[in-house]
Amino acid sequence: LLTLPKERGWFVSHIYNYQGFWAIPRVIQGVIACQQQFQAQDSDIILVTTPKSGTTWLKSLLFVLVNRMKYPVIEQNHPLLVKNPHDLIPFLEIRLYVDGLVPNFASFTSPRLLSTHLPFASLPKSVQDSKTKLVYLCRNPKDTFISMWHFINNLRLHHKDIHPIEEKFESFCKGVSPYGPFWNHVLDYWKQSIEKPNKVLFLMYEEIKVQPKLQLKRLAEFLECPFSIEEENCGVIDEILRMCSFENLSNLEVNTNGKLSTEELENKAFFRKGEIGDWKNYFTTEMSEKLNYVIEQKFQGSGLRFSYI
Ligand code: A3P
Repeated sequence: LLTLPKERGWFVSHIYNYQGFWAIPRVIQGVIACQQQFQAQDSDIILVTTPKSGTTWLKSLLFVLVNRMKYPVIEQNHPLLVKNPHDLIPFLEIRLYVDGLVPNFASFTSPRLLSTHLPFASLPKSVQDSKTKLVYLCRNPKDTFISMWHFINNLRLHHKDIHPIEEKFESFCKGVSPYGPFWNHVLDYWKQSIEKPNKVLFLMYEEIKVQPKLQLKRLAEFLECPFSIEEENCGVIDEILRMCSFENLSNLEVNTNGKLSTEELENKAFFRKGEIGDWKNYFTTEMSEKLNYVIEQKFQGSGLRFSYI
């Protein structure tokens, strides 16, 4: 690790560049372990996200959608009501393979639901070579940045040291952020989703917010578990969306008072505002113009556009 390029920390220690993306040493160790050991199966479904893009929300939707026959949405003791979504769909590199753990997949039923923040090029080889499906989620970079800034300040509260927003913003614009550069991450999966539409589904937080039914149906079709006419008529889609809504999830006992089963992190850290456009409450005009410029440079010609409303 000492030979890797490093920058001042985004979390609690310095952040290093490994295979072209930035992460803290503990994460890099997990990444290496999972790259070396994880064996993907064709039936696996892996949710890939940029940090703070709505991972928790999509984990909930994915879990409820895929398991809707096993756990009907109306069940009082549905797992989503008693467990945090990160306990239901664990991260490969920051949960299953963290700290030298050797994960036991015996308790996973097929299809295995897993998640990661890894850039495409750094995915374990077996993921790329198998028929494993990848569901990708990103969010407009301004809200992503603000959500991340709040998140790390939350982690830092124990250290009583708030990160100046200007400093973190400059790093973000330089591409230095957890799993960043943000644009490399998004663009790589965007290209893959165009080249291999059966392997990679590209979703955006804002699109799910604005057209939740349509996006959930897209997800179900991509995963080859589309809603039947009867399900549509019985309001199953609405029920799933209601169950996974910010309001419902953030008010559950497990998410107001619980902690992740393997970490010190409080579950409530994953629920803040859940809106589009909170960046406007923090960005100066200069910051907004600067990031617009960077985004325009990086994404030009890609056909990809973010919504910032
Ligand atoms: P904000 O900080 O903007 O509120 P991640 O899950 O990738 O860590 O992303 C966290 C962001 O998703 C937070 O955004 C959080 O509030 C939001 N979020 C969590 N659950 C949500 C839900 N059910 N619906 C919409 N947004 C949600």
